[in-house]
Formats: sequence, structure tokens, C-alpha cells
Amino acid sequence: MPTEKKLRIEYWIEDDAAGAANRAAQIIADTARAAVEERGRARIAVSGGSTPEAAFRLLAKLELPWRRQTPWEQLELFWVDERCVPPDHAESNYRMTRDALLDRVPIAIENVHRMEGELKPELAAARYEQLLRREFELQPDELPRFDLVALGMGEDGHTASLFPGTAALAETGRLAVANHIAQKDAWRLTLAWPVLNRARQVFFLIAGAAKAEIIREVFLGERAPERLPSQLIWPESGLLTLVLDRAAAAQLPAVAGAEPGVLERE
Ligand code: 6PG
Repeated sequence: MPTEKKLRIEYWIEDDAAGAANRAAQIIADTARAAVEERGRARIAVSGGSTPEAAFRLLAKLELPWRRQTPWEQLELFWVDERCVPPDHAESNYRMTRDALLDRVPIAIENVHRMEGELKPELAAARYEQLLRREFELQPDELPRFDLVALGMGEDGHTASLFPGTAALAETGRLAVANHIAQKDAWRLTLAWPVLNRARQVFFLIAGAAKAEIIREVFLGERAPERLPSQLIWPESGLLTLVLDRAAAAQLPAVAGAEPGVLERE
């Protein structure tokens, strides 16, 4: 289980999914710029699925500010998780990101660190762990500290590829693991939850009415991370950000004005 330190959850409610994508693009651009100013580089881990695609497309649009605001030359991109499929497969998180973003921005190819979904799952996980150790120059018991981890959430409360009742929920010794998802009869690759919690900043980008109930259960309901793996996300920073559209936020306390809503978890 994550630390028992109190967690402050700040949630932004945008009118619609496009508004949520805008805010997510802004957070990514701002975080990358601040990281480069402070440390000369920005290391971000992104999720797949359908929700983040709109934010990636906004980051790449020439006529929008974020493309020119983002320090692409110093940005190093990693993945939170990947499906065990080849990189050009329709299900590939890498392929979605390549089509929506990477082919449209001047990011250096050597700074794009995809998970090798085409390999045997255990081998791909081991190779990604080695990549993280090399890129972050980690000591043996050290965790990589991303500047930003961008997460999504499934209707079953999963995040990354940490699905309810799967073995990876108990994985705290390795950085990246292969996880068999019985619900999908499929293998996935995922960062382990302690790595996600180590990040300087973590946000969930979630949109759509279908997610409203699971958001209530995860953030307002009882602690049950085996059933609700998104509850394992408890950043060491003590702060978790939610970027939501109104439909997904329907069961959270309403928020007035331009400030985010705040929940406290212990
Ligand atoms: C993936 C993602 C996964 C995703 C959720 C939500 O590989 O699918 O990393 O964790 O964030 O499944 O997906 P949607 O954004 O498509 O609802």
C-alpha cells in the first residue's frame, strides 16, 4: 500500500472532453518547460487508451501555443503502460502517440522510449526496467523520478495496466512488469505503482459520463485498491491532480469559479 501520508486531490472540472484535453495539454507543456528550466531536461510518462489522444493532438497543433511552448529538444518521453502488440498495431499506445503527436513535433527519436510490446512480455518488461535504470542512472534500490506521469482510468477503476485482481498490483520490487489481464485474456506491460507515485507530478485525465461512478468510488469511497487499483496512486508529493469533464465529475462536489475542487484523503 502507498504511504499513509495525507493526500490532497485537486480536481479541475472542464465543460467537456475538449476542455479537459486543453487543460491536460497545458499541464504537459507547463511541466515540461519548468523541468527543463530547473534541470535541463523533462522526463514524462504517458498513458494510452482513447482519452489522451485529443491532448496529444493539441500539443502538436502548429496554430496553438503549446507546440512552441514545449521544449521538445529536451523532452524525454516514456510510457506508463503498453499493450503486448507490435508498435504499428491498432491497439498500440505507442502507435496512437506517434500518430497524434510524435510524427508532428521535433522530439528527438533517441528520447522516445517505447515499451517493446512486440517482444515476449517478461523480456519486454525486463528490457524496460534496464532502460529506466540506464536513462535515470539509478542506484540498485532507487526509483526513477518522472517530472510528470499522465494517467487515465478505466470504468473498472484500473489505471496504467494495473487491473483489478491482477498480479502487478502486488509488484513493488520491480520498476516495470508484465501483467496478464484475465479480463481481456491479454498481456500488458506496466510501470509498477511505486514508480508512478514517485513522480514529481501525477494527473489523471478522465472524461465521459461512464466514468462518473468509478470516480466517486475511487476518490470518495472506501479504500479497496485490490478492487480499485487507481487508489494505489498516492503520490509521494502529497498532491494528485484530476483533469475531468463535467460529465465525469458529476458525482464529485460541485466547484465554483476558476479554482479546482479539493478532496483530502487519509
Ligand atoms: C491503456 C491505458 C489505460 C487507460 C484507461 C482509460 O493502455 O489503455 O494506459 O490505463 O488510461 O484504460 O482508457 P480510455 O482513456 O480509453 O478510457
